[in-house]
Amino acid sequence: MKFFLDTADLGEIEKAASWGVLAGVTTNPTLYARTGGKLADFHNHIKRICEIVDGPVSAESVAMTRDEIVRDARELAALAPNVVVKIPTMIEGLAATRTLAKEGIPVNMTLCFTVPQAIMAARAGARYISPFVGRFDDISEDGLEQLSQVVAAINNYNFSENTVRGEQVEIIAASVRSAHHVTQAALMGADIATVPFGTLKKCVQHPLTDRGLDAFMKDWEKVQNA
Ligand code: E4P
Repeated sequence: MKFFLDTADLGEIEKAASWGVLAGVTTNPTLYARTGGKLADFHNHIKRICEIVDGPVSAESVAMTRDEIVRDARELAALAPNVVVKIPTMIEGLAATRTLAKEGIPVNMTLCFTVPQAIMAARAGARYISPFVGRFDDISEDGLEQLSQVVAAINNYNFSENTVRGEQVEIIAASVRSAHHVTQAALMGADIATVPFGTLKKCVQHPLTDRGLDAFMKDWEKVQNA
């Protein structure tokens, strides 16, 4: 499983990129708003992320009709070669994805919650599908169970004839809120987990690692003083 960072914060992206495990970034309008960014700076902000990250960077269209989404997507895709256009899983979004896939523009279909949505996204030609986990948990439903159903269903078929350049569609476990979500996403075979910065940090931490490191350091001090 690959790790993407789910943020628009340049500082977080620079730090995570330096750790050597960052394979991509996903942003959304909320995450950009959280940086205090203005509309006029949005395209430059995405360009900057694309320079830092060696991998796909999802930038979301906020248009609501097929033609507007396609127009938006073409502009976003022209910003950098690693831009992936993020489009909500809805009828107009599917139609736009079909057009964009034929043009060779990779799409990440977002706000995906069900197996039929995921299969339709793949058939439309999405390069990535983002089933959300945490938002199911927020309404007291089992987000991991929903994700596992999407992974199993998508893996039943070969969608490569639908996607850009014949690449296989990849599932991004999204709305990930904990290391437990990451563990379960990996066990069920999600291709990617897109993880907020704080959660990504927690994924590398363990109290037994800290305790072990502490003991090694203390014992090494004894060796130096022997
Ligand atoms: C997906 O790409 C979204 O940006 C993201 O994972 C949403 O997560 P949230 O439900 O924590 O806002």
